[in-house]
Amino acid sequence: MRAASAIDYRELARRRLPPFLFEYIDGGSYAEVTLQRNVDDLRAIALRQRVLRDVSTIDTSCTLFGQQLSMPVILGPIGLAGMNARRGETQAARAAEAAGVPFTLSTVSACPLSEVCSAITRPIWFQLYIIRDRAFMRDLMAQARELGCSTLVFTVDMPVPGSRYRDYHSGLAGAPGLRGSLRRVLQAMTHPRWAWDVGVRGRPHHLGNVAPVLGSDTGLEDFFAWMRSNFDPAISWREIDFIRSEWNGPLLLKGILDADDAREAVRTGVDGIIVSNHGGRQLDGVPSTATALPPIADAVGNDTTVLADGGVRSGLDVVRMLALGARGVLLGRAWAYALGAAGERGVAHLLQLVQAELRVAMALTGTNRVSEIGEDNLVR
Ligand SMILES: Cc1cc2nc3c(=O)[nH]c(=O)nc-3n(C[C@H](O)[C@H](O)[C@H](O)COP(=O)(O)O)c2cc1C
Repeated sequence: MRAASAIDYRELARRRLPPFLFEYIDGGSYAEVTLQRNVDDLRAIALRQRVLRDVSTIDTSCTLFGQQLSMPVILGPIGLAGMNARRGETQAARAAEAAGVPFTLSTVSACPLSEVCSAITRPIWFQLYIIRDRAFMRDLMAQARELGCSTLVFTVDMPVPGSRYRDYHSGLAGAPGLRGSLRRVLQAMTHPRWAWDVGVRGRPHHLGNVAPVLGSDTGLEDFFAWMRSNFDPAISWREIDFIRSEWNGPLLLKGILDADDAREAVRTGVDGIIVSNHGGRQLDGVPSTATALPPIADAVGNDTTVLADGGVRSGLDVVRMLALGARGVLLGRAWAYALGAAGERGVAHLLQLVQAELRVAMALTGTNRVSEIGEDNLVR
């Protein structure tokens, strides 16, 4: 199948990846109500068709946090994305650079910061989780600074991890020891293209930035056990001062879903917020981001830069999010599917598709500039 959309890349990734990896990307927490809401609510937003408005000079570019972007799109942080294709985060970062959009490296990536940053010249964004060991956090921020990362994305919606049933069914979670490993090896053997690309040629299989604290325990269970015991549920607004003392570049809070929290974020002086429910992977049952975004943008849109993610699968969805009040949009699963299906080439193609879809959506809503997109582009 030749991919014509992010949805096609999902199907191609499903065929190519071992089930424990595909389900890890594709799944959400508990009954996946929020995951489904993100996609359905966004898709249900009706765009307003306009005609005879001379759309011959469409420009999809924009500026965010002093950086020039070819379109208001960022590759968001995806933990373990590097397992989707050989040295996966590095491949995706290359594709993002070529497309003129930022790439965000997760704290829990497979490729370390140093590898990704040295593969490209454009500064990447770095995503940070709250970790009990503050010295380790300090060290990560220092590395990010020294390697030229431009923007820090501090994720605040994971004081504890949500449970994902699919990970149990697929053998990623709750299957420790030899039995779990054998199950995954078996899945890899029945997906030989992935096994050759990542299993054999993708070495070393270290867990990137976390490898120094994991030592010789490098299995997937070791990694998830480390996450469970090292993420800090004591996280509070005080942490922003700590981060600020270590990071003086643009700082964004990711995982805001409530207008009161957004106001509090503005009071702490962060440079932006990302309206997100972690792609429906944390508290199942919360509203979709398409629903949460407008009241948040109304509350703080003049005081800070509001970005959003969740359920974005096309350039049309990008226009929807901008019309609902976001200044930029993060792709999550969309790029992870493309990477799993076809590596760097897949991510590059996906970004071309998104930009082409964005252009068409702008043309047919009668908009020439990204900054002109607003609620006027929606049918109310
Ligand atoms: C497989 C997977 C891993 C993720 N890992 C992280 C992560 O390490 N850090 C983070 O802040 N968000 C993480 N997220 C959340 C995404 O950054 C983003 O908020 C979400 O995927 C957006 O929803 P969408 O995938 O429906 O577009 C992850 C999401 C997925 C699907």
